[in-house]
Amino acid sequence: MTVLVFGAAGFVGRRLVSKLMEARVEVIGADIATAGAAISCPFNTVDVSDRDAVAMLVLDVRPKAIVNLAYTTGVAIEADLDRSTRINVNGHVNVLDAARASGVRRVVYSSSIAAYGPSQSVYGHREITESDSCPLEGHNTTYGAMKAFNDFIALRLRTKCDVETCGVRLSIVFGPGRRHGFTTWTSRMLEPAGEDQVTIPIAPDDPLSLVSAGDAARLLALAVNSPAPLPPVLNSGGYRVTARSLANEIARINPRVRFTFSKAPTPPLFVDRVSGALAEHVLGFRQQPLPAALRAEMARAVR
Ligand SMILES: NC(=O)c1ccc[n+]([C@@H]2O[C@H](COP(=O)([O-])OP(=O)(O)OC[C@H]3O[C@@H](n4cnc5c(N)ncnc54)[C@H](O)[C@@H]3O)[C@@H](O)[C@H]2O)c1
Repeated sequence: MTVLVFGAAGFVGRRLVSKLMEARVEVIGADIATAGAAISCPFNTVDVSDRDAVAMLVLDVRPKAIVNLAYTTGVAIEADLDRSTRINVNGHVNVLDAARASGVRRVVYSSSIAAYGPSQSVYGHREITESDSCPLEGHNTTYGAMKAFNDFIALRLRTKCDVETCGVRLSIVFGPGRRHGFTTWTSRMLEPAGEDQVTIPIAPDDPLSLVSAGDAARLLALAVNSPAPLPPVLNSGGYRVTARSLANEIARINPRVRFTFSKAPTPPLFVDRVSGALAEHVLGFRQQPLPAALRAEMARAVR
């Protein structure tokens, strides 16, 4: 089976391409960035906001499934709302419409826990499930509202025709090599790059919901290959840790590294109690224990 991956040159995309290739899936990558030698599959330079180019590529490849990870993230969204809407919203529509036109039956795309809004207080102390949603006024980033809108668009298409869409609502993904988004500092914690002092821009007791890049890629690959039907959205779930306990776990593995935190609690950007029960039920997916995931990601950082 052939899988076409948009956003293949990105942080999550590269890990997914490797994971699919390890499983002997034929992968075709697509991205606006020229991946150079770092991507090991056939690669197409495509702007996902170019509707005709996306349609032509999908028609040409006729994949069994598409994964769309192409996105603008972090502060870059507000900095150029017009361009980021064309990528994050129109690009999503372009991929879905191209799938429908070419008879592709499954589209898996990266949603985010940001779709639940920035604050756990909306949900109280319980775990958030896929049937929860954030009121419009609860959002404080365009990123989160765009992710919720992406899920809405996909659900509409799914109910109208026979393209099975699945938005994987990833928690904050940690691993080496992260260069974009709100939480690039999680990469710096794992790859201090010569400096032994890493500054974390949140307070030590601020809670997080985390998934490793390896586990995120494994979950996306499981969704792509699933013989069972997929639900419209699926949480990755996440380790619920404070910034301090994450730092302590990392320091146990790399005792040289020292962390400094923001003095005051910071306004939350993401929810922090996210249930992964549905992904476990549908795909048999469970995260590795946190220390094992940290060791695996840190080993990649020094390679
Ligand atoms: N990293 C995380 O913590 C995290 C958490 C939750 C959800 N996600 C989602 O996962 C997806 C991938 O995130 P990432 O961390 O790998 O980000 P990334 O920025 O590393 O990767 C995104 C990729 O999309 C490509 N892209 C951007 N504009 C494009 C365009 N016009 N046409 C084609 N390709 C384009 C970029 O070149 C990049 O390779 C995004 O949808 C993101 O919102 C990431």
